[in-house]
This record gives sequence, C-alpha cells and structure tokens, in this order.
Amino acid sequence: MADKKIIAVLGSTGSQGGGLCRAILADSAGGFGCRSITRDTSKDKAKALSSAGAEVVQGDLDNVESLKKAFAGAHGVYAVTNFWEHFSGEKEKAQAKNIAEAAKATGVKHVVWSTLEDIRKFMKPDDKRMPMLQEKYRVPHFDAKAEANSFFSGLPTTFLVTSFYWDNLYMFGLAPKKGADGKLAWAFPMGTAKMAGIAAEDIGKVAYGIFKAGSAYIGKTVGILGEALTIDEMGKTLSKVLGVGPIQYNAVEADAYRGFGFPGADEMGNMFQAYRDFANEMLANRSLAESKKLNPALQSFEQFVTKQKSAILAAMG
Ligand SMILES: NC(=O)c1ccc[n+]([C@@H]2O[C@H](COP(=O)([O-])OP(=O)(O)OC[C@H]3O[C@@H](n4cnc5c(N)ncnc54)[C@H](OP(=O)(O)O)[C@@H]3O)[C@@H](O)[C@H]2O)c1
Repeated sequence: MADKKIIAVLGSTGSQGGGLCRAILADSAGGFGCRSITRDTSKDKAKALSSAGAEVVQGDLDNVESLKKAFAGAHGVYAVTNFWEHFSGEKEKAQAKNIAEAAKATGVKHVVWSTLEDIRKFMKPDDKRMPMLQEKYRVPHFDAKAEANSFFSGLPTTFLVTSFYWDNLYMFGLAPKKGADGKLAWAFPMGTAKMAGIAAEDIGKVAYGIFKAGSAYIGKTVGILGEALTIDEMGKTLSKVLGVGPIQYNAVEADAYRGFGFPGADEMGNMFQAYRDFANEMLANRSLAESKKLNPALQSFEQFVTKQKSAILAAMG
C-alpha cells in the first residue's frame, strides 16, 4: 500500500464506509488504498475487509487522539457519524468535531463529510407543523450534521449530502407487511411527494468517485440520489419485481406516524414530513446527473430491489 493514497474510512464496518472500502478494494489499479477504522478490529466485518486487502486500525469517534493515530499518513478521510447508535444531535456534533480536529492535526488532503441539510432553514422557528426535538432540532440527525459542516471549514472538504437508504426496507423494518386481511400494506406520512432514495452501497461508490476526482470537488457540496419516487411508485416496483400482490399505501399524517411508538418514531415522522413538505427543496439539493457521473454503476430502485430481492422478501415475512 506504500505507493497508494490511503483513504482512512470511518464507518468502514457499516453501510456508507463499507461501500467506500469495497469500491477502493475493487479497483486495485486505482491508486488508492483503504484504511478501515473500527472500534473493534476483531469483528467479522473488519476481518472481511482485512482479507479483501484493507489495513484495519482501531479508532473511536469519541476519542480524538485515537482518530489522530488512525488518520496519520492518510491522504483522505471519509467522515461519517452514526446518529442511530445514540439518537443524540449533540453527540453527533461532538463526534464530527473530533473528526475535523484530527483531520486538521494530521494534515489530510481531502475529507468527504457525509452530511444532510438543516431542516430548520425551511421553516420559521414558530412553525407548528412539526415539533422541535431535543429542544432545538426539527430532524436532529439532519440538523446536527448540517451544523457540524462548520467544523470542517479550513479543511479541504467535500460536503456529501446523502439520501434515504432503500436498504431501510430490510435493515430498518420499513418493508410492507401483511395485515390481518392478508394484504400487504405500509404507512408513511409522505402523501404523494417524491422522496430522494439511494442504495446505501452506492453512497460509498460516489464517495470513491469524489476522492478520485480530487481537487475538483474540494469545497463543493454534492447532493446525491439514486432516484426520486413516491411511495406508490416504490410499491408498484416492489410488487412487480418481488411478484407479490398490490401494496396498500396508507398515507398517514405525520402526527400519527410520530405516535407509532417505536424508538425514533418522532425523529422518523419529522424526517418523512420534511421529505414531503419540502420535497422541492430536498430534490433541488440532489443531482442524478452528478450522482451518475461520480458512480456510473448507480442503481435505480428497480435494480436495487432486484439485487436485494431475498433480503426484502425475508423482511416482509
Ligand atoms: N438510514 C438512512 O436512510 C440514512 C440516510 C442518510 C444518512 N444516514 C446516516 O448514516 C449514518 C450511519 O451510517 P451507516 O448507515 O453507514 O452506519 P451503519 O451501517 O449503521 O454502521 C455504523 C458505523 O459507524 C461506526 N461507528 C459508530 N460509532 C462509532 C464510534 N464511536 N467510533 C468509531 N466508529 C463508530 C461503526 O463502526 P464500529 O462499530 O465497527 O466501530 C460502523 O462502521 C447515520 O448518522 C445516519 O443519519 C442514514
């Protein structure tokens, strides 16, 4: 790896960073090497990356000194935090601050920061459509990432605005389920709005495209998606590709969704409402052409469902 530009990848045992590591490792002539960062180098996903040719090192987002060690000598850093491990906007910002501090200390040449937009900018503070969460956020995992953008000023950064993972269908329990009547149904507070979605693996592939393009993307914000679809359009594709009956879409109100009671229902209710009420703004922030340019293998929803058919069917029970 000595002759290669090393990308130190946070979240390497997860969806985004894992996709980036696999993209780097699949392109052995590309001139880049993958340094996978994990808190636990003995876990199976870390071992799999090591077997595929990655250097695996220990690092913890809560420990800035461990990040400085993990970034030492690297050309680039893929920066992603995991809100869903702790559900705290404040903690997410503290972790992003640690990443930026370690990147500054080690003088890396390119940081790709996985961020999202600040939903508060779309609404007046006294807007009652959506409750504030954790006192000051509309959608904490969006707003906190956007606030954290400022930590990266002064660093050679690309701000990567991601989209809803279609993988949530099988990873987050969001697939349609059979009701008491035996018919498939799902509920979202999305009305007839189109939501920007993407196959999680494609985010890492886009990030690899950004590192390869290098300085052209430094200082830029890049919003990506695989396709923008209504829930009904997604349901029709699921029925067609999976060979299941029609999927009943219950377009519930956001308040009803927030009351569903699962952990994070309020956060998800606000997020879907933001995708619905600010669909034009959210779609304007993301470019299909740019996503395809950076990742020519970008999947459509139909391609994604075809590839993940068995996982989605298993999640539907
Ligand atoms: N789900 C969606 O639709 C969606 C859409 C857009 C953006 N996002 C954002 O994506 C982020 C999560 O990324 P992901 O889905 O790729 O993650 P993931 O698949 O859930 O995996 C989490 C990754 O984060 C790492 N990690 C967590 N805490 C860490 C810590 N303290 N120190 C070092 N590493 C840590 C884990 O590494 P180890 O456990 O190996 O240490 C693991 O690699 C979230 O912040 C979420 O808001 C999600």
